[in-house]
Amino acid sequence: MVRPSNSLLGRVLLSAPAVWAALDLDINNDDSIKKAAALVAEDLMGYYNGEKPGEIPGLLPGPPPNSGDYYWWTGGLLWNTLIDYRNVTGDAKYTDSIVKGMAWQTGQKQDFMPANYSLDMTNSDQAVWANAALAAAMSGLPKPSSPDAADWLQLARNVVTEQSLRAVNSNGTCSGALRWAVLPMNAGYNYLDTNSNAGHFALAAALAHETKNDTLAKQAASGYELMTKIGLIDDKFNVFDGIRDDCKAVNQQQFSQNAGLLLTGSAYMLQQTNGDETWKKRVDGLVARTLEVFFPNGVAKEVACEGSTVDCVTDMKLFKGMLHRGLGVTMQLAPHAKDKILPVLKTSAAAAARTCANGKDQRLCSVYWASNSNQKDGATLGAAAQLDVLNALNSVLMASVQSGGSSSGAAGGSGGNGDAGAAGAKKDGPGSMGTATSVSTAAVFGGLFLGVMALF
Ligand SMILES: *[C@@H]1O[C@H](CO)[C@@H](O)[C@H](O)[C@H]1NC(C)=O
Ligand SMILES: *[C@@H]1O[C@H](CO)[C@@H](O)[C@H](O)[C@H]1NC(C)=O
Ligand SMILES: *[C@@H]1O[C@H](CO)[C@@H](O)[C@H](O)[C@H]1NC(C)=O
Ligand SMILES: *[C@@H]1O[C@H](CO)[C@@H](O)[C@H](O)[C@H]1NC(C)=O
Repeated sequence: MVRPSNSLLGRVLLSAPAVWAALDLDINNDDSIKKAAALVAEDLMGYYNGEKPGEIPGLLPGPPPNSGDYYWWTGGLLWNTLIDYRNVTGDAKYTDSIVKGMAWQTGQKQDFMPANYSLDMTNSDQAVWANAALAAAMSGLPKPSSPDAADWLQLARNVVTEQSLRAVNSNGTCSGALRWAVLPMNAGYNYLDTNSNAGHFALAAALAHETKNDTLAKQAASGYELMTKIGLIDDKFNVFDGIRDDCKAVNQQQFSQNAGLLLTGSAYMLQQTNGDETWKKRVDGLVARTLEVFFPNGVAKEVACEGSTVDCVTDMKLFKGMLHRGLGVTMQLAPHAKDKILPVLKTSAAAAARTCANGKDQRLCSVYWASNSNQKDGATLGAAAQLDVLNALNSVLMASVQSGGSSSGAAGGSGGNGDAGAAGAKKDGPGSMGTATSVSTAAVFGGLFLGVMALF
C-alpha cells in the first residue's frame, strides 16, 4: 500500500537525442494521427510481457520497487487506452490481448478484486479496471471466451454496487464518501481521496447513461454533490486531492486525472439528463478550470510535480493521459464545449508527439511535454510515456468519432436507445445511500502520500 517514490528505483539518465521527430504527425489530419498512434501503441505493447511464458496476463511489469515500475491499477489503464485506440482508429489488432488481459484480472467474484492484489486494494484501483470494463462494453469489445465469465457491463455493475455499499459505511460529516483503501489495516483507510470518489462517480454516471438507470444517476449526482460539500471540488472548480476522514482539512494538491474523471462523469450526467442546466454549468466550469490549471501554454503538465522540486512518481506520470481522455470524452458528450477543448488537445498532443524521438527507431516517447517541465527525473521513457501520448492522440481523434454519447443500450436497464430517457433520476434508490464515486486511477501517490499525510 505504501507506494515508494521513484527515487528509490534505479534509473538511467537518458539524454534527449539530437535528431528530431521520427514520429511524423500532422495534428489536423486524422489519417496522420492514426498512423502515429499505431506506432505509439506498438511501442507501448513492446513493454507488455503478459503473454510471455511465466508472466501474468493483464499487467505491465511491476509492482515496484523490485519487479518493475507499474502497480496493478496500471493494467486497467493500459486496456482502457487500447480500447479507446481501437474505437477511434478501428484498428482491432490488440483485441485478443485486451480481452485476455482484462479477463485474467477480474477476480473470483468478478469484481476486479483478484486475490493476489486484494490485500492492498484501493477503491481508486478497482474503479480504473471497472471503468475500462465499461469502456469495453460500450465499444462492443467481444466478451471473454470462458463460458462462466461475466460480460463487461456486469463487471462494471458489480464494482459500482460493491463500492456504493462501502461508501455508505463511512461515517461522520463526510459520510457517504469512499475511503482510499478498502481494508481498515491499510494506510489510506483514513483518507477520503478524490481519485476513488471521482472514479466511482464516473463509473456510476456512465453506467447510468448506458443502462438508463435512474437509481445510478441519482447516486452519481449525490456523489458529485458530496465532493462539493466536503470541499474536494471548490466553487472555482478546482479539484483537490482528498481529505482525512475526520473531515477537517482538505489536501489541496491538484492532480490532473481527478479533473479528467469528474469531467467524464459530469459529461455523462449532462447526456443522461438531456442537457440539465446544473450539469452544463459543472461541465463548463470544470472544462475552463482544468484547461487553465493543467495546460499552461496549451500543453498538458502535471503541475503538482512537473516544474516543482518534487519528482513525478510513476503514477503521477500516467495522469496526463487520463486527463486527455477525460477532455476527449467530454467533447464527444458535450459538443458545445468542443471549440474550447479541441484546440488545446491538439496543441498538447502535438507537443507530446514531438517528444517521440528516442530509442533505436527514434520514436519512443517521453513523459514530459512542456518545455518548462524542469524535471530532473531521467526515467522519462517507458510504458507510462507511451500510454500518455497514445491517450493524447486518441483524445484528438475522439472529435471525429461517434461516441459513447449514443448509448448502445447494451444489456441492462430499460434497453432504451437514443437519448430518451431518464431525466432527473428519481425513483427507487435507497435515497440515503449516498454515493460513492470512485474513479479510476489508482491513487497511489507514493512517497508523496506519506508526506501529505504528515502535514495533517
Ligand atoms: C496471481 O499470482 C500467481 C502466482 O504468481 C499467478 O500465477 C497468477 O496469474 C496471478 N493471478 C492474477 C490474477 O494476477
Ligand atoms: C466511524 O468509523 C470509525 C472506523 O471506521 C469508527 O471507529 C468510529 O467509531 C465511527 N464513528 C461513528 C460516529 O460511527
Ligand atoms: C466505438 O464506440 C461506440 C460507442 O461508444 C460504438 O458505437 C462504435 O461501434 C465503436 N467503434 C468501434 C470501431 O469499436
Ligand atoms: C439500477 O441500478 C441499481 C443500483 O446499482 C440496481 O440496484 C438496479 O438493479 C438497477 N436497475 C436495473 C433495472 O438494472
